[in-house]
Amino acid sequence: MRLLFLGDVMGRSGRDGVSERLPGLIRDYGFDFVVINGENASHGRGLTESHYADLRAAGADAVTLGDHAWDQRDTLTYIEREPTLLRPINFHPTAPGRGANLIEGRNGHRVLVVNAQGRVFMDPVDDPFRAVEAAIAACPLGEQADAIIVDFHTEATSEIQAMGFFLDGRASLVVGTHTHIPTADARILKSGTALMADAGMCGDFNSVIGVEADEPLNRFLTGIANGRFTPAEGEATLCGVAIETDPKTGLAMNISPVRVGGALSQALPTF
Ligand SMILES: [Fe+2]
Ligand SMILES: [Fe+2]
Repeated sequence: MRLLFLGDVMGRSGRDGVSERLPGLIRDYGFDFVVINGENASHGRGLTESHYADLRAAGADAVTLGDHAWDQRDTLTYIEREPTLLRPINFHPTAPGRGANLIEGRNGHRVLVVNAQGRVFMDPVDDPFRAVEAAIAACPLGEQADAIIVDFHTEATSEIQAMGFFLDGRASLVVGTHTHIPTADARILKSGTALMADAGMCGDFNSVIGVEADEPLNRFLTGIANGRFTPAEGEATLCGVAIETDPKTGLAMNISPVRVGGALSQALPTF
């Protein structure tokens, strides 16, 4: 199986980049399943129902969220009727929606997608390790699930690497989101789990993590807010990671960082 994961879609730039380029990537590389983190797709803050529909129409089989999950209030209701939209599994027990689901891809593969949020430099949430463990135990790789993708949304790359080692041999891919900056550590761990500490964002990199640089720079220089954060609207780089799995085990055989369009150096799948 060939799987593509794209990091946090940032505003209109990110949405347009996904709509313009994802269908061609799916066609050219034969992806069987695509997951996109959509937590910043709507003006940097959350994901409206219509922008969620846009990501699905472009080719996302599942969409994950993060700490911005509820920035758009309507997400609290429409998430209940969208089984392919996931919010972190370790949110408060009363949170609407779900944090994991077994989803069928375009070629009939069953992929367990899990979204979790970390606890280092993040608002308090329940233990992500135990929550992910329970989801995977209920739907093991190579049994109910043909592949397992874990989007671990957090600030600290150490926490994501720890999740990778925790799940080594039990998930196809563990990938970080949230920092918006792609890391250069994509590899396959010794028991077959692909790991990348942050997928990066789908957005305009002539910016500070997708925001026009003026206001973040002002706040760093003065400590005083002087306006709102405005999503940068130049051409997006689509950032993420592609893997190919062994059909028998669901474990990773190949991993490639992906960076397409915009300001960053380009990288395409190697299969
Ligand atoms: Fe984000
Ligand atoms: Fe985030």
